[in-house]
Amino acid sequence: MSAVTSVASMAREAAREPRITVAADAGALAALAAAEIARTATRAAEARGLAAIALAGGSTPIRTYRRLAEPEEHEGVPWERVLFFFGDERCVPPDHPDSNTRMVREALLARLPIPAANVFRMAGELDDPERAAAAYEADLRQELGPAPRLDLAILGMGVDGHVASLFPGSPALEERTRLVCAATGGQPQPRRLTLTLPALCAARAVLFLVSGAEKAGTVAEVLAGRRPDLPASRVRPEGEVHWLLDPEAASRIR
Ligand code: 6PG
Repeated sequence: MSAVTSVASMAREAAREPRITVAADAGALAALAAAEIARTATRAAEARGLAAIALAGGSTPIRTYRRLAEPEEHEGVPWERVLFFFGDERCVPPDHPDSNTRMVREALLARLPIPAANVFRMAGELDDPERAAAAYEADLRQELGPAPRLDLAILGMGVDGHVASLFPGSPALEERTRLVCAATGGQPQPRRLTLTLPALCAARAVLFLVSGAEKAGTVAEVLAGRRPDLPASRVRPEGEVHWLLDPEAASRIR
């Protein structure tokens, strides 16, 4: 291998090594995450005219979204040039207590000066999840082009290593061509819609937000490369992967 090739391959390998940050506590995690999201949105909008961010569901990101909604946190972000997508959604109406759309609306969107037309929710209320998935994929291609690349995919992780609604052993996890598909798994509401690995691995950057001692074992296994089978291990984009953890979730990393 020539010197140039070896440097290039090392650079690519280095680029694929995840960045790991252990915040002082859950509040610091939210502050660091909010700042990173605002920074990424601004830089992408300046570089390419538009920033495309996929938001995570679940409970961990709520504190981050509330922090991002604080005016001082998002000062200067050109929200009119930022598009929000969702990493996944439960198959419920958007005002249902289990809806990620409802959670994001209450924690973030209701307090952010972003045009409503810039927010693309997954239609979890439709009776036919596969049709809803296909419609969402069409939205992605309509807004981001034939080979959509998110600037940032924000993800949580379950104790079982799932990300978005890609659960271990699920057919959705093995999807290789579609960008969005119907999925099953998890509680509440096991019927779901989710971005697939092709969509997540095309992202320019991935930000994992993980907190809680119950996830420490899975975090340690994934970051040590001991569980390449887990969904969280299989999100390996060309771009940067940043794990933002609280001390409890990081407590078993060696
Ligand atoms: C969802 C999420 C899911 C979540 C993980 C972690 O719709 O539930 O997209 O993938 O990120 O289950 O959830 P917590 O942050 O609530 O632990």
